[in-house]
Amino acid sequence: VPKTWIFDLDGVIVETAQFHYKSWKRLAHSLDIPFDESHNEALKGVSRSKSLNIILELDDREVSEKEFQRLMDKKNGWYQNYIAELTPDDILDGIPEFLDTLKERGAKLAIGSSSKNAQYILDYLQLTETFDAIIDGTKVKNTKPDPEVFLKGAQAVGEDPEDCVVFEDAESGVEAANRANMLCVGVGSEEILGDADLVIDSFVDMSPEDLLEKLS
Ligand code: BG6
Ligand code: MG
Repeated sequence: VPKTWIFDLDGVIVETAQFHYKSWKRLAHSLDIPFDESHNEALKGVSRSKSLNIILELDDREVSEKEFQRLMDKKNGWYQNYIAELTPDDILDGIPEFLDTLKERGAKLAIGSSSKNAQYILDYLQLTETFDAIIDGTKVKNTKPDPEVFLKGAQAVGEDPEDCVVFEDAESGVEAANRANMLCVGVGSEEILGDADLVIDSFVDMSPEDLLEKLS
């Protein structure tokens, strides 16, 4: 039975993908780079700079380092306006009950996110106190699919990777969990998350016990 449960934030605890998408789309269109929903999946889980690189590559663009930073800042400003509206009501269905049950069972809980905005989001959702460790984009050098974020999460609570289970909605995150040698539960579509040990639609009516049974 896993002792430490590590959650990705964006797309697992709260749905922020549409905020990232709208902000990147606005930026791409301001640069006359065609960008639509079909490009969005590749941006999930990866860092802000990797995302901008993917968008610029869509149109073979190259920009100076200074311009690159300016574009990231612009996107992040728009994104931060969106997330500032988040409240505890935006926590995804089933998550509060799931986390409460885990806490009652004495499990350790961690966040493993690529985002540099994770701490703001957790504060808006009033979830900061719920987690024993928060590892986010401000604390890692290498972003998913590199396993660093999850390995640091395990380390922060003093757990062996083999005793951790990761929840992920992005292909890059599933790969990171696999490379960290942790169990991985995909939250979303089997088609995208097929490399996870188990894929679930959502946390609605899902207890930790149900989940462990499905995993075994
Ligand atoms: C991840 C998101 O959680 O964080 C990605 O899935 C995003 O889409 C990444 O690019 C970095 O986010 P931020 O908030 O640091 O720009
Ligand atoms: Mg995610």
